[in-house]
Amino acid sequence: MNPPHNFRTCSGLCLLAVLSFSLANLTGCNTASTPIEPSVTGTTNTSIASAANSPQPTLPVPQIEYSKIHLIPAHFVNDNAAQYVTPADNPVTDAGATLGRVLFYDKKLSLNNSTACATCHKQELAFTDNKRLSDGLMGGLTRRHSMSLNNISYVDVGGGGGRGGAPAPMGFFWDTRAATLEIQALMPIQDKTEMGMTLDSLTKRLTQTDYYKPLFASAFGTPDVTSDRVAKALAQFVRSLITYRSKFDVGVQTNFQNFSAQENRGRAIFNGRDGNCATCHGTRQFIMERPENNGLDAVSTTDLGLAEVTGNQRDAGRFRVPSLRNIELTAPYMHDGRLLTLEDVVEHYNSQVQPHPNLSNQLRANGQANTPRRLNLSTADKQALVAFLKTLTDTEFIKDTRFSNPFAVLP
Ligand code: HEC
Ligand code: HEC
Repeated sequence: MNPPHNFRTCSGLCLLAVLSFSLANLTGCNTASTPIEPSVTGTTNTSIASAANSPQPTLPVPQIEYSKIHLIPAHFVNDNAAQYVTPADNPVTDAGATLGRVLFYDKKLSLNNSTACATCHKQELAFTDNKRLSDGLMGGLTRRHSMSLNNISYVDVGGGGGRGGAPAPMGFFWDTRAATLEIQALMPIQDKTEMGMTLDSLTKRLTQTDYYKPLFASAFGTPDVTSDRVAKALAQFVRSLITYRSKFDVGVQTNFQNFSAQENRGRAIFNGRDGNCATCHGTRQFIMERPENNGLDAVSTTDLGLAEVTGNQRDAGRFRVPSLRNIELTAPYMHDGRLLTLEDVVEHYNSQVQPHPNLSNQLRANGQANTPRRLNLSTADKQALVAFLKTLTDTEFIKDTRFSNPFAVLP
């Protein structure tokens, strides 16, 4: 087959490939979906007015089909365990996510024009940074470690509701304090350390920025800038960040025949009793919506996690169970970035889990919080577990031009 020249073509072919469950087509299409940069991105949308001395976004024509990205990976569409969720009042549209992409990379969203969302969420690192704590707009440090943004729409809880309508402690951030991505998006913008803006100054500044007029008009019908629209567009772009081309993803579709013996041993440890990891990092997204206490500390002192949201001491030390997709790229690890390598993480679960009173059941020996489980893995098994974690790396995702910086000056 001839390589498609742009994403529109590719998307169509990918969908066909998905429908026919043809892995060969899917793989071929995936490879071909990347070289859109020179030909398509070079075609600047001339309706975006250019203001002197200010970086302008360069966007592809026709628009990228963000609304269809979640339909491309057949093994996600068919996965009943973790479904793509998007709120009824803010579905991902091509124009909405296009606007969200520009906002995500725009330093104008910070008080002194120094910091964009992408400053702390870098594509080449699966949308996190490589620091324990991130640098804010004035050089101050964030309180927690930046989170990677992978397949977040599969965690979306659509308003924080629990099963059967019961309230449940689910949401975004390490302590789950943001019930939706729309609520989340405005929080870093207004955070004094991170971006330091007021919503008033944000809407004024974006209203005065010419290239936003057609982008808002196309996404929402009129060029008016409101913080609600900013939040919706950012959430749409973040929901579009779908990683689905790792070695693991190929494995799901080929009965893991593409895995080495070591990787398959690691997979068995991860899913089975030896490691028991999948009881928390479950489904093909490696997530669990309920926050857990994975025994990093015996006592919670400086960061109480979920208890800071609920006020309940029994929630102390409970944090979001992050997806492990692209985990090889997202060091350091945990909410405070305390563990530097995947080997350190595996050793934590193998021998270092602390007897916190709220320690999650899965990590207790004999159900006792004061006797944490010890895995007693051999060196070879620990290496196998790390090898398995590395199969979750998606090198296409981190260079996918649908998610890249539109302000980048291309050669
Ligand atoms: C100065 C660094 C910084 C900037 C700028 C920043 N973030 Fe973050 N982001 C973080 C940190 C740190 C966390 C974790 C904070 C916490 O849990 O308390 C986070 C968490 C998140 C999460 C939660 C992910 C999850 O799995 O729950 C999302 C989504 C997110 N950021 C999106 C954004 C968007 C959108 C912007 C721009 C409007 C942005 N961030 C700007 C550092 C930053
Ligand atoms: C009881 C539930 C639970 C079990 C079982 C569990 N984890 Fe975790 N995992 C968590 C939680 C919660 C976090 C985040 C903790 C924090 O930062 O405070 C986490 C964090 C991680 C991280 C770091 C993620 C990041 O983005 O920084 C890795 C890697 C990881 N776990 C791997 C594993 C492996 C491998 C196993 C099996 C040996 C395992 N986990 C078992 C709950 C669990």
